[in-house]
Amino acid sequence: MYTPELLELIKRVEATRERRLDEEFPLLSADAKQELLEGFHPDYKDEVFSELRVGPSKGERTPTEYARVFEAYSGLDPDGFDLSKVDFDVDVLIVGGGGAGAAAALVAQEQGANVLVVTKLRLGDSNTVMAQGGIQGADKPNDSPAIHYLDVLGGGHYKNDPELAKALVMDAPEALAWLEKLGVMFDKESDGTMITIHGGGTSRKRMHAARDFTGGEIMKTLKDEMLNRDVPLVEFAAVYELLTDGDRVTGAVLYNMETQEYLIVRAKTTILATGGGGRLHVMGFPTSNHYGATADGLVLGYRVGAPLQYLDTIQYHPTGAAYPEQILGLLVTEKVRSIGGQITNTEGDRFVYELETRDVEAAAVIRECLGRKKGVVTPSGQPAVWLDTVVIEKKLGEGAVKARVPAMYRQYERFGIDMAKHPILIYPTQHYQNGGLEINERCETPVPGLYAAGEVAGGIHGTNRLMGNSLLDVVVFGRRAGVAAAAQAAGIKTAGGLGLDHLKNYHAALKAAGVEPTNVSPMLLPEYRRAATVERKIELLA
Ligand code: FUM
Repeated sequence: MYTPELLELIKRVEATRERRLDEEFPLLSADAKQELLEGFHPDYKDEVFSELRVGPSKGERTPTEYARVFEAYSGLDPDGFDLSKVDFDVDVLIVGGGGAGAAAALVAQEQGANVLVVTKLRLGDSNTVMAQGGIQGADKPNDSPAIHYLDVLGGGHYKNDPELAKALVMDAPEALAWLEKLGVMFDKESDGTMITIHGGGTSRKRMHAARDFTGGEIMKTLKDEMLNRDVPLVEFAAVYELLTDGDRVTGAVLYNMETQEYLIVRAKTTILATGGGGRLHVMGFPTSNHYGATADGLVLGYRVGAPLQYLDTIQYHPTGAAYPEQILGLLVTEKVRSIGGQITNTEGDRFVYELETRDVEAAAVIRECLGRKKGVVTPSGQPAVWLDTVVIEKKLGEGAVKARVPAMYRQYERFGIDMAKHPILIYPTQHYQNGGLEINERCETPVPGLYAAGEVAGGIHGTNRLMGNSLLDVVVFGRRAGVAAAAQAAGIKTAGGLGLDHLKNYHAALKAAGVEPTNVSPMLLPEYRRAATVERKIELLA
């Protein structure tokens, strides 16, 4: 429900709607984009970052909130922890129950590997299930993986690892076909051809969708397949630390979040598919990410020696919900703009083409609010601009909003806002980590025995990912990781010893760098209680 004051402001958006309907808004020039990014995107602000003092990427910058979890001690005592009882002995351990983990598990099991999936929440609790707008794949006659490749590189500021970007686009048509074969219901024309639309920065319409719950549809299908094939799974089991023998990863210590027990896994190969870190809330941004997105896999991989790539680039999705407060930061899918939604300032004027790449779009919204002061301020003090969804009805016909983006419609209807009749308020939200652990096209990290797939891995998207390439990434690289980890495991007789020497070394490096033992990581779940509440609890327990 809008307040009377906001309803008054909406009249200005309504007043310009007719004029805007056929308005062509120009794309920004390369120079104008650069100036905008440097002026208003958080990735270009020195105060966002800290230099890492330890580990394989020592000397590189990450947002300070990430640096805090890298520069922290383990909750395990590497000298005293009992590793004598092995609870699970497997070929391939897969850490994470989202899209990449599920794809890896299905494929590794098909290769004959004895796999185990562990996930700290429930199977499917992930950013995959929350992905909305679509999945890219060049499968139309006017498109090709080569054209897709150019878009991926353009979006990523040409910083992408070329081999990884190539793998992403070359595997895309096959990945879509695999998903469809498993049962994913993509949107289709009545003659059976796939419906595809544009996303920001795409030169062809190659966004395939299941309305605006594409990730939900994909995850449901992968999850069903895992359950049907009886893929071994332990839920509510977070990996607390990896185990090593020399420089090789040989397993993991699990922490059962329900029973608070530790469990030991011995594995010939291990795949990290733990997703991103939106719940670290860089610079206080809200997030579109799921509750478990705490960058824990990054910390685990980093401590055993896997370097980071582009972890100084975070994606702020331009259209996070800014009002009502209860849904602050939740995603308003880019698809709303793909099908015609227009962004306006408080005067009802457009100020940026709606399908610029995400970093440019987000910077333009921030500039409009904080620089030009032409945004709206919500009753809770949140800056915002309008996303005029009513134009979608005007352009595509009555009922189009509900038909094309039903999940969005419901998200707002719950709060008494009808997107078909009123615009909505949006502001950038922390959405994705463009960088992550270094991998090659087989998803091997430089650490023997350790693989990474999905958002935890870096390099594929350069310094800015395009819409729909994340769902694609989890499927393509999840499958690649499954194949490679299973193949390597097949050639290994035994996993090796189980040790925590890497942790002793990491702790020693922290100590030498003068890092006080005040912070513990990996962070398993975010902490939203007020400090006073936490202190009080500790006092009572002491
Ligand atoms: O806007 C969206 O639907 C998000 C998609 C993505 O991050 O790929």
